[in-house]
Amino acid sequence: MWEFGRTLKMAAAAVILAGAWMIPAASADDKSIVLGKADPIVVGSLQSMTGGTSTFGQSSDKGIRLAAEERDKKGGVLGRAVEISTADTESSADKTPLAVLKLIEQDHVVAVLGEVASARSIAAAPSCQKARIPMLSPASTNPKVTKLGSYIFRSCFVDDFQGVAIAKFTANDLKLKRAALLTDIRNDYSTGLTKVLEGEFPKLGGEIVARESYQQDDTSFKTQLTNIKNAKPDIVFLPGYYTEIALIVKQARELGITCPFIGGDGWDSDVTLKNGGAAVEGCYFTNHYYSGDPDPTVQAFVKRFKEKYKEEPDAMAVLAYDAANILFDAIDRAKTTDGPKLREALAETKDFPGVTGKITIGKDRNAVKPAVVLEIKNGKYNMVKRIEP
Ligand code: PHE
Repeated sequence: MWEFGRTLKMAAAAVILAGAWMIPAASADDKSIVLGKADPIVVGSLQSMTGGTSTFGQSSDKGIRLAAEERDKKGGVLGRAVEISTADTESSADKTPLAVLKLIEQDHVVAVLGEVASARSIAAAPSCQKARIPMLSPASTNPKVTKLGSYIFRSCFVDDFQGVAIAKFTANDLKLKRAALLTDIRNDYSTGLTKVLEGEFPKLGGEIVARESYQQDDTSFKTQLTNIKNAKPDIVFLPGYYTEIALIVKQARELGITCPFIGGDGWDSDVTLKNGGAAVEGCYFTNHYYSGDPDPTVQAFVKRFKEKYKEEPDAMAVLAYDAANILFDAIDRAKTTDGPKLREALAETKDFPGVTGKITIGKDRNAVKPAVVLEIKNGKYNMVKRIEP
């Protein structure tokens, strides 16, 4: 429909340019041609479409495109179609600034949705701030992200909350007190969560009995895991990304480490289940949502997502879907796509009914939302607890 509108507009322009006096009849009642408003609203989707953490980007982009498609079916935003322009960060913080500049300067996006990985959101934020283009990260949880400027928002919880949730669940629910810590030291998300765990766990009567680290893309973790084994922990804190989780836990089992591992949202991917197999049974992680949640809003979303993509939506997909809808709602309220006004409307987001719950953006441009604790059981994720902020 929108494509058709645009084609008409171009045809009309061509007729005018050719000096013809007659405009095709169909255009007479196409207001967009008269008002020149048929141009779509271009929204940037900044994602790791390729590279190490490509499931983050792929899932998020799907969520955003589903939201845009649904919006277009309802008449678009401000009566205009939504066009999603995706830029690939290639899972690299170094490549992110160029990707976001492409969105801003070449595609003239009105806002940027993304990134997922905190390190890449941190790399993208300065360009958005400078251009006064609101950036809304659906999933970056590191506290630093939104501190980078007044145009930088997130619609998920922060690691200060997530880290405390992991520590409390471990100490109070699992009643495990000796924890080893294994951190991805080149990942802002992982080092950020580590800091919170180190600060919080001892307050709950816990003790960190070993501290080890690795780097993204490492493939052997035996040295670190041997040190961890010797410290005899009851549990291992593993605040990393899914790309290494399965491998690490499998190698741990080979070395005879039988205790559970627990991590954060970075575990969320099919890859953890598929590659982890029996090794990750009995492990836990905190997350933004649970696809098996009986809540009708969640189930209706899962159904629509599955219909379109033939797969289960993971946390990134639903977070990005919510973020896109929050942005559309802000444009509606701002009645313009002008950066500063849109920024204000986003900041005023209150009780937005998202699939992941009611979303309010606080003074610090962060959302306050509950977290869930998932347990891996019989090759599936099971929700064991919901933690309110
Ligand atoms: N919270 C992670 C980060 O900040 C990204 C992430 C979000 C990963 C949701 C998985 C699910 O880097």
